[in-house]
Amino acid sequence: MIKKYRIGNPIPTDSVIEEMEITAESIPYFIRDDDAKSLNIHMLKNDKVYGLGETVRGINKRGHIYTGFNTDDGLHTEDKRSLYASQNFFIISSDVRKLGVYVDTPGRVTFDIGFSKKDELLIVFEDFDADIYLIEGDTLTGVVKEFRHIIGRSYIPPRWAFGYGQSRWGYRTADEIREVADEYDKAGIPLDMIYLDIDYMEDFKDFTVSDEKFPNFKEFVNEMKDRGIHLVPIIDAGIKIEEGYDVYEEGVENGYFCKKENGDDLVAAVWPGRVHFPDFLNDEAREWFGDKYKVLLDLGIDGFWNDMNEPAIFYTEDHLKEVFDRIDDYKDMELNIYSYFDFKELVASIGNNESDYRRFYHEYKGQKIRHDKVHNLYGFNMTRAAGEAFERLCPDRRILMFSRSSYIGMHRYGGVWCGDNMSWWSHLLLNVRQMPALNMCGFLYSGADIGGFAADVTEDLLLRWTAFGIFTPLFRNHSAFNTRRQEMYQFESKDVFKNLVELRYALLPYIYSEFMKAALEYDMLFKPLAFEYDDDRSLEIEDQLLYGESIMIAPVYEQNVTGRHVYLPEKMKMIRFRAYDDYDEEILEKGDHYLRADLNEVLVFIRKGHVLPLAKPGMRTTNVCSEDLIYLCFEAEPGSYNIRR
Ligand code: GLC
Repeated sequence: MIKKYRIGNPIPTDSVIEEMEITAESIPYFIRDDDAKSLNIHMLKNDKVYGLGETVRGINKRGHIYTGFNTDDGLHTEDKRSLYASQNFFIISSDVRKLGVYVDTPGRVTFDIGFSKKDELLIVFEDFDADIYLIEGDTLTGVVKEFRHIIGRSYIPPRWAFGYGQSRWGYRTADEIREVADEYDKAGIPLDMIYLDIDYMEDFKDFTVSDEKFPNFKEFVNEMKDRGIHLVPIIDAGIKIEEGYDVYEEGVENGYFCKKENGDDLVAAVWPGRVHFPDFLNDEAREWFGDKYKVLLDLGIDGFWNDMNEPAIFYTEDHLKEVFDRIDDYKDMELNIYSYFDFKELVASIGNNESDYRRFYHEYKGQKIRHDKVHNLYGFNMTRAAGEAFERLCPDRRILMFSRSSYIGMHRYGGVWCGDNMSWWSHLLLNVRQMPALNMCGFLYSGADIGGFAADVTEDLLLRWTAFGIFTPLFRNHSAFNTRRQEMYQFESKDVFKNLVELRYALLPYIYSEFMKAALEYDMLFKPLAFEYDDDRSLEIEDQLLYGESIMIAPVYEQNVTGRHVYLPEKMKMIRFRAYDDYDEEILEKGDHYLRADLNEVLVFIRKGHVLPLAKPGMRTTNVCSEDLIYLCFEAEPGSYNIRR
């Protein structure tokens, strides 16, 4: 049962697509405090809280505080309250009740989930205007499905986007890209995509290609396509201010950029230097920006990633001026302990300063609205610009699209990657925990930078992360330019990497089928154990996941271990894969086990009555055939598995 309640006069977000009556009664279960602009609900001792999409910490969100306000903060330490996305849907769950709550408000909102008071879940709004959807159901999956129906079907990428992709900030020329493809082929490691970071552009200008570094780009795209490799370029939110650059000139001429109070276009800085931000919330500007993707589609490109769309701001020109003015005050000062910190903070305040989000406005649904009030919708609408354009420009083709920043609703137009993580073991575990929460909110095509974006990866971390990454729909190894090279062929264990990626390709019929079922049936691909088992231990498991209908996975996420504890909520068949055609099988009883998993091994558990199909892998997804399969079964017939093609 789903009901919609309204507080104040919320700005519509377009995240819910189903027309629903607003319930006149007051919001049940919650205590509403208009002065404090808050809603408060008592949590039972056994309540667990699942959801909130891309956030730090555990699968059970209880015990911390989270803020829905998209931030460009690459340091995802466990104290962070916001990351790049705001996906304000969660479920409070115990054996007594399952209550789904969607807080639809485009500005800042805080979820204090037993942080201030252990039995209270307090939602504090900056503006007390929101639509609140409450969903009562008997099961967690039932609640998720009801929610997902009202927000619309999840984005489905092309089949090749389930292959493996190599990315790196710093591939500067077409020859470097060729070399990556050659090295992967030489190592026999399957690959379907190579991502182009900002280096491919001319002076970091969207929808341009550097002729010098990537001559005859169209031919190059085709050459790679002939090898079965898709090039996937990045598109950033900021448009370089430069006379003669068509995107800049058209944007200025038509008034498509975000404006300050005085009507001037806001000037901020990101990679290209001084930029304007397109007003993606304005229907006309969104259509105009979306049409720009045609430039690259016409060159043969069929996938994109949208970045820097919180929007990330290195500085705004106005704030920078204010900082310079204030720096003068410190010039002749002898810095003491207080002034030192003030000064340091002043200088550091230029980047991603939240006050900058109060300096510009959008034309949204016929109203002028200050950015901070609709901040969380910016990345969503950038990706919507692309998604709507693809429907117009190539309605018969699926185009790969994923974004860094998001809000619920964007899941209809693209997937997400979890932004700039680190080559840390804790971020591998974070990746494991974020996946089911993202799925709950409709984001199925998602994944993190495998191996970690910043910091130097170690070979064992990359192996373990790959062993988990083979299950994430977006399976991409990405790293920053100043880090150790992270392509699999750079490491000693090339053969192990080959076996792992081949296993992904062997699992492709299963992964694709389960993804399609999740998308079409409004279900999740990754589920915490608590979604299907109700014994006490299952409710507490934070590092194993159900994956599709047939299997459970238990990734290893610690260094220098040769195995891990695994809890089996029922009797299952363990498969310890070393390669798609090299594995041990063993039936294991319900309960706790310590299981060996060397660096070259992946643990998969087939559930009773279920089937895991495996294909013969190929070097590209197009070489993986869904007809000729072998079936690993546990007390089930192969025919009971429904393959989607
Ligand atoms: C941002 C992105 C990262 C990209 C970099 C350069 O930090 O999150 O993935 O490599 O910008 O474009």
